[in-house]
Amino acid sequence: MIGRLNHVAIAVKDLAAATALYRDTLGARVSQPLPQPEHGVTVVFVELPNTKIELLEPLGADSPIMKFLERNADGGIHHICYEVEDILAARDRLKAAGARVLGSGEPRIGAHGKPVLFLHPKDFTGTLVELEQA
Ligand code: CO
Repeated sequence: MIGRLNHVAIAVKDLAAATALYRDTLGARVSQPLPQPEHGVTVVFVELPNTKIELLEPLGADSPIMKFLERNADGGIHHICYEVEDILAARDRLKAAGARVLGSGEPRIGAHGKPVLFLHPKDFTGTLVELEQA
């Protein structure tokens, strides 16, 4: 059911420093910072030949990645995103299998303008999983 790895998201406290690390030390192509107030993060996209890395910095007081950064002072991998062809079919199949879908269970429009859902990390080997309709 899942297809390509769309991105790996890394939460960071200092987006400028993380961007410089990826651009200058690792030699990657990076985007300008993109504030996404509706998701409580500012994102920099790191473009790799086969996938993307998203550097996430908290934006606003109730950012969903704030708690994660309190537990992971140096930052860390926050979630991984797999592509699916049909997000509603994927959701229904996962729910039928007993997996927990976060939030209302209805897809939201994610960072790339496409519908996304998040799955509970306790159901997926301790990893927050995002599904994005490709
Ligand atoms: Co994501």
